Amino acid sequence: MMILALNGSPRKGGNTDLLIDQIFTGARKKGHICQKIYLYESKISPCVDCRHCKQGDFHCPIKDDMPQLMALMTKADTLLFGTPIYWYGPTAKMKLLIDRLRPLIATKGLAGKKGVIIVPSEEGASICGSIVKMFEMSFHYLGMVNRGAFLTTAYEKGEISQNSGEMQRALKFGYRL
Ligand SMILES: Cc1cc2nc3c(=O)[nH]c(=O)nc-3n(C[C@H](O)[C@H](O)[C@H](O)COP(=O)(O)O)c2cc1C
Repeated sequence: MMILALNGSPRKGGNTDLLIDQIFTGARKKGHICQKIYLYESKISPCVDCRHCKQGDFHCPIKDDMPQLMALMTKADTLLFGTPIYWYGPTAKMKLLIDRLRPLIATKGLAGKKGVIIVPSEEGASICGSIVKMFEMSFHYLGMVNRGAFLTTAYEKGEISQNSGEMQRALKFGYRL
């Protein structure tokens, strides 16, 4: 199985990044092929609701890195959406990506793919209700299969690596993907 992680944190070596790597370590033990993309290294412009993607060949006319990102996404079997909580939602970069997935509604490009979210935050799982719901509903809208959420508490850069219990849980989470 091909697993693609979309890292929506601006911090390389941050909590989201380390969790993705740990989940990958677990997933590789099961023979899965894993690839990670740093969204902050990609050019993703905002959706401007021009509605081109709703007609004809469902093509988005915006010139940026989205065609390559969508090509990778449609090749993967499982998509990991990794984002820290910023103001009780995803980071702006992750939201830009999600807004631009509209062409894949009509083409059903992500239908049947498994979706997972990985979300560290200072306040922890108890404040993640809105982000969990947002992804759950978006997966449903795209015809994806919701495979759950890894929610955890961490604040400083790389802090999660000192939490051996959570790192172990991430490893097992990856193994079970
Ligand atoms: C702009 C901004 C907004 C944030 N908002 C929240 C928040 O609403 N609730 C929370 O628990 N943590 C919040 N945080 C903390 C991050 O979620 C936390 O530091 C996380 O571990 C960062 O993950 P990263 O290392 O992968 O970037 C915020 C951080 C930033 C920079």
